Amino acid sequence: MDTSVKNLIVEKIKSSKIGQVDFDNLPFGDVFTDHMMVCDYKNGSWGTPKIIPYQPLTLDPSARVFHYGQAVFEGMKAYKDDKGQAWLFRPDENFRRINKSCVRLAIPEFPEEYFFDSLKTLLRLDVEWIKPGEGNTLYVRPFVIATQPGVIAAPSEEYKFMIICSPAKSYYGGEVRVKIAEKFSRAADGGFGFAKAAGNYAGQFYPTKLAKEEGFQQIVWTDSSTHEYIEEAGTMNVFVRIGDKLLTCPTSDRILDGVTRKSVIALARDQGIEVEIRPIKVAELLDATKNNTLKEMFGSGTAAVINPIQGFGYKGDKYELPKVENSYASRFKKQLTDIQYNRSEDKYGWRYKI
Ligand code: COI
Repeated sequence: MDTSVKNLIVEKIKSSKIGQVDFDNLPFGDVFTDHMMVCDYKNGSWGTPKIIPYQPLTLDPSARVFHYGQAVFEGMKAYKDDKGQAWLFRPDENFRRINKSCVRLAIPEFPEEYFFDSLKTLLRLDVEWIKPGEGNTLYVRPFVIATQPGVIAAPSEEYKFMIICSPAKSYYGGEVRVKIAEKFSRAADGGFGFAKAAGNYAGQFYPTKLAKEEGFQQIVWTDSSTHEYIEEAGTMNVFVRIGDKLLTCPTSDRILDGVTRKSVIALARDQGIEVEIRPIKVAELLDATKNNTLKEMFGSGTAAVINPIQGFGYKGDKYELPKVENSYASRFKKQLTDIQYNRSEDKYGWRYKI
């Protein structure tokens, strides 16, 4: 296997468990491939990345990640085209973002060639787990955890950078209705909402559980100071179509700079759709609902791809969105997946050969 990481260590499994996997019935994120990547940080530097059989970790119970949540992650997907070639979608963006998250969580940045060489080696080893055909993907989860023992509340001096992979179909099954946040917040100015930090997700679980009890699948967060402006949903950035215009809120230190989000903006602008990136008031959504100009809402994300939002709840009222022909959501989903599965020309250079 070609790789430019001189000492990349590869220890292969003795026999694959792939035969035991029912690829037609895969709950998101439950099944993992045969191998994983692990790279340890100690004494001020990252050691040699290793590809080893997928296995549990042994960590000291006082490891910092358990106590202070010093952990960040990424989400990427690999796809297989009809000729059997595997691809990633814009992994350079994920690499850039995980290091941005690392910096904010006081974690040492990870070297670029370690990331790409070990990623390629891992995916080539487990390439059989990437199934061809629309909707089949391999969800790739790079993450970093603070492993140094000791409960002092200070940055760890030891870390593990790991990559695990899970064959996946869609993240949401069926219709998605969202609750617009009135009281809880996901992130605040000066915080780390822009980072893919583990704690940003844990903090959403309780409000999302309450929203689920009311029949919603996700929360669309609002700004923490006034709750008047929509921000992002739990696992997705949010787009709104009013008339023929596409709106999304700007990224900030509260909002994740989504790779799918920026791809949708580029696709939309390229086909002449007016895209406004500006704060969006909840009141504007309500007005657009009343005067029938609110045509669509959808979420974008690696796991979710493009997910239409059928309705939303706000202050006890529920609003349904119209069913539109040739929706922007279905159009962008097709254009994105055509690029991802190598069915269309990639004029943006977003596909990355594995
Ligand atoms: C992703 O889209 O990769 C995400 O991070 C969502 C994840 C929390 C399932």
